[in-house]
Amino acid sequence: MLFVTIKHLKPGMILAKDIIIYNNNQYSRLLLSKGQSLNDTYINKIIYHEITGAYIENDAFNDINAEPAINKVLESKSITKIKEIYSRAKDGGKKLNSVAVKEIESVVDELVIEILNNKELTNNLIELKNYDDYTYQHCFNVAVLSISTGISLGLNGYMLHDLGIAALLHDIGKMSIPLEILNKPDKLSDEEFEIMKSHTVNAVTMLKHVVSNDILRGIESHHEKLNGSGYPYGRKGSNIPLYGKILAVCDVYDALTSDRVYRKTCFPNEVIEYLMGCADTNFDYEIIQEFLKKVVAYPIGTFVKLSNDKVAVVVKSYPENTMRPVVRIINPDNTVGEDWDLLYDLNLINITIVGMGYDSETIDYNKILSS
Ligand SMILES: [Fe+2]
Repeated sequence: MLFVTIKHLKPGMILAKDIIIYNNNQYSRLLLSKGQSLNDTYINKIIYHEITGAYIENDAFNDINAEPAINKVLESKSITKIKEIYSRAKDGGKKLNSVAVKEIESVVDELVIEILNNKELTNNLIELKNYDDYTYQHCFNVAVLSISTGISLGLNGYMLHDLGIAALLHDIGKMSIPLEILNKPDKLSDEEFEIMKSHTVNAVTMLKHVVSNDILRGIESHHEKLNGSGYPYGRKGSNIPLYGKILAVCDVYDALTSDRVYRKTCFPNEVIEYLMGCADTNFDYEIIQEFLKKVVAYPIGTFVKLSNDKVAVVVKSYPENTMRPVVRIINPDNTVGEDWDLLYDLNLINITIVGMGYDSETIDYNKILSS
């Protein structure tokens, strides 16, 4: 399968994965199924829902197939629970009781076990969905990324459990932010941004006495930055607690790689470059290093451009260095060429990936798909 961006989808292409959409009224809805042949109507539906692109079947790439790191049943169950708990906080005088916390704990325990048992990288696939119902999906994604990073940092089971709870509840303070600010498609005014910032301290009020102090301090500091330019307190360096530093990295990564109403999604490699550029000013360098072992810069099936001007498709990622995957070359005549192992083939040591290859002038998607 190949990942083709919306701009390049054409009638006759066959979907290699389901496309799911999420909305405010129900958790998820199947928009188009795997095996469906695209026509103009279906392509317009994908465009309408602002989905980045689609996985397309192709014989020359039928050996590449990736499954999501967390199974869909557990994901769906977890998000339903997060949504329920967040709504309870909204209805119940903006405080959470210990029963709700117990329910969140059992979600975290299942997630930790699933992640420990699964060696897959967390984002080997580009998720084909939009996020109208963004907050709950975002908290789930941040939890998966945080637990994976925590494992990489060598945290013990007790700490992974607390980190997971902090991640699932990190945005619960948004339940007391007016919806017109929360869902505003344009940039927030200074006054609105001040209100938005209060979600960090609101969470502390909501969760006081029902979670540990470490969890509270982690949630409270998920928007602090290493150089003191963050909020709510402008804490610096070692004054920011560990859970807060991990949440900060995972929060920004997921926000920038998710489809949002007001902004175009970035590809993972662009976000990774951004994170690396901000290491030591905004984010903790060691945490970034461990985080990068868990997310791929170039998900499987995506078109990339190489430093020698060739275009290729990513066919395999190595956890030990996700910046240098195995790629399958697209020849100048748009036939499919050989595989290049950018990590272990020493003859290729000078070749680097310089960006996404979708808009390369030499690419003819129809020819590649018929080759
Ligand atoms: Fe936040």
